Amino acid sequence: MPARLFLSSGDLVADRRYEFARDLQIRGDLIAAADLLEQAVELAPRFASAWFALGKIRHELGENEAAITAFREACAADPEDRHGASLHLMQLGAEELSDMPKAYVQTLFDQYAPRFDQALLDDLGYRGPSILFKAVLSVRAAAKKPAFFRRAIDLGCGTGLGAAAFAKNVDRFIGIDLSPGMIEQARATGLYAELEVDDMLNGLRAKDDASADFILAADAMVYLCDLAAVLAEVGRVLVPGGVVAFTVETHDGEGVVIGEGLRYAHGAPYIRATIEAAGLKLSALQVAATRNEGRVPVPGLVVIASKS
Ligand SMILES: C[S@@+](CC[C@H](N)C(=O)[O-])C[C@H]1O[C@@H](n2cnc3c(N)ncnc32)[C@H](O)[C@@H]1O
Repeated sequence: MPARLFLSSGDLVADRRYEFARDLQIRGDLIAAADLLEQAVELAPRFASAWFALGKIRHELGENEAAITAFREACAADPEDRHGASLHLMQLGAEELSDMPKAYVQTLFDQYAPRFDQALLDDLGYRGPSILFKAVLSVRAAAKKPAFFRRAIDLGCGTGLGAAAFAKNVDRFIGIDLSPGMIEQARATGLYAELEVDDMLNGLRAKDDASADFILAADAMVYLCDLAAVLAEVGRVLVPGGVVAFTVETHDGEGVVIGEGLRYAHGAPYIRATIEAAGLKLSALQVAATRNEGRVPVPGLVVIASKS
């Protein structure tokens, strides 16, 4: 994972206490670390990084009410929520599930970008693009249709691993991603005709009706809570017969939950219903883990659908 985000409080003493607290936390002395962080936020009450660190330690200590208070303070101190404190509030059941803060996603992936490929491929055994590629080939073969596409859009394109997997089967890729750092890496691959720094929903809204024959989202829908709006836009932007292929993390229940890894997990019934509501036809819904966490495969689904 990238280095922890640090937003200075502007108070040198409070910042130093935060640094000492981090050292104590790394050495496993959580109680002393929490004490120091309490001192830091007393000195600098709008010190988002200290509140956030305190929330995580309180949670680790099993002090959930105190964790909730600290995460709420972190959100108040940084309304953009670059640390993602609201995701911890959702995970603790203190807030309803809602969209991931855009600034959090951007900050996370901007930090991650320079070593993303190595971290994902080597450390997490990431295999989303190749699983999607095989699934698209097999769906198209079963439908007796070619698996070649002229105009494709890669949602949450990241560094370009998805476009690399499909490079021989797509004439022209547009990549859309929230993170300028990831887009910079994607640009260096030379795989994209166009790249946009944007939210995928905004990016799709700007596209003409029936202007793409393939839409890909590899390990990107896991950062969206409700997929309805994006899939409705996918349905509008695809040509008749066009294909959408994406992965999600999943769980045994019906709807959407937030997982241990702070990504959303979408239940199979939710995926079926949302694909149908978007006017798309499900071609394949396969169980597949696209990455590991602590060497354990994370339960996931590969979804291929088409526009009639
Ligand atoms: C785990 S990476 C996957 C990247 C790439 N698709 C791949 O397979 O390697 C997720 C990417 O989705 C992007 N992302 C997350 N939410 C997004 C959103 N709402 N709009 C656009 N991009 C988003 C992130 O910035 C990140 O680059």
